[in-house]
Amino acid sequence: MDDRQHADRRRRFHCALSITAEKKTILGSQGEQEVARDLEGKVVLITGASTGFGRGIASKMAEAGANIVNADLQEKANPSGFDQKPELTTVQLVQELGSEALFVTTNVTKRADVVGAVEATTERFGRLDILVNNAGIYRGGKLFHDFTEEELDICFDVNVRGCFLAAQEAIKVFLKQGGGGNIVNLVSTAGLQGHPRQSVYNISKGAAANLTRCLAIEYGREGIRVNGICPTYAKTALTRAFADDDTFDEMFTKSIPLGRWGEVSDVADLAVFLASDKSAYIHGDLIRVDGGETLCRYSV
Ligand SMILES: NC(=O)c1ccc[n+]([C@@H]2O[C@H](COP(=O)([O-])OP(=O)(O)OC[C@H]3O[C@@H](n4cnc5c(N)ncnc54)[C@H](O)[C@@H]3O)[C@@H](O)[C@H]2O)c1
Repeated sequence: MDDRQHADRRRRFHCALSITAEKKTILGSQGEQEVARDLEGKVVLITGASTGFGRGIASKMAEAGANIVNADLQEKANPSGFDQKPELTTVQLVQELGSEALFVTTNVTKRADVVGAVEATTERFGRLDILVNNAGIYRGGKLFHDFTEEELDICFDVNVRGCFLAAQEAIKVFLKQGGGGNIVNLVSTAGLQGHPRQSVYNISKGAAANLTRCLAIEYGREGIRVNGICPTYAKTALTRAFADDDTFDEMFTKSIPLGRWGEVSDVADLAVFLASDKSAYIHGDLIRVDGGETLCRYSV
């Protein structure tokens, strides 16, 4: 699609009702609402944004004025997920919100794919401002001694190597641009504590948590901020088995001081904040979005 077609498409899908310098009234999922344009003109690369948290983050960042690149294995939303408007791709959702978007087929475990996604971003938008390391997989449901090496390898490949490769390639571009940068890693409360029957997932998320700290120490002086988000369970394709299990649902909901599952929007709102200048002095942090899950062993 050439530039004129892009502009035309943007006009057709543009839902902006009014725009001021800092706020925009949009027709969002909750009806007409005013959103702050905290990411106006920023270029964001999100891994795994076809569905779940990544897709929610793409939408919220687009509402805040950012242009989005979705680097995922496949473009369609996962039918096992709980996404709004699943018939639309993330690119179409973002275009509906008046931003530009691009999909790049990417396996984050492959260096060549990650390099390709970063190059496609800079070719299309001329720069990269924000990386969201979101692509991740879950393995669990068994005791530690029953996990296979294959399960260990795939969890580490996606959840650790994927973040490692994308952060390396993004940082190279940030340094070349010479004007800062921002990385948001999707960690988990599983990166902060142990959970029964998911040790392989938890140790991979523990590595993602420490990657966040290491990058923050090494690149803060370059103006590159790095933070991690640690959600508890929210309903996505990744947690479908838990969401469909009534016994788990009851036990989990009772264990959360706020008395509910997380929502994709809870995580996406924090991602926008961490990527924006409103969080300018928050660096190397791992912020829980967990309704108080990690505060106590039992809730009331
Ligand atoms: N859903 C939760 O409750 C929850 C809680 C804490 C942390 N997280 C983390 O949030 C992130 C997103 O989770 P989600 O629930 O949205 O998952 P999801 O399964 O709904 O979506 C994950 C997306 O990542 C993509 N992906 C998977 N492997 C990939 C690869 N090798 N290369 C490129 N893309 C790949 C998938 O195609 C999919 O679009 C993950 O890192 C996950 O560990 C999720």
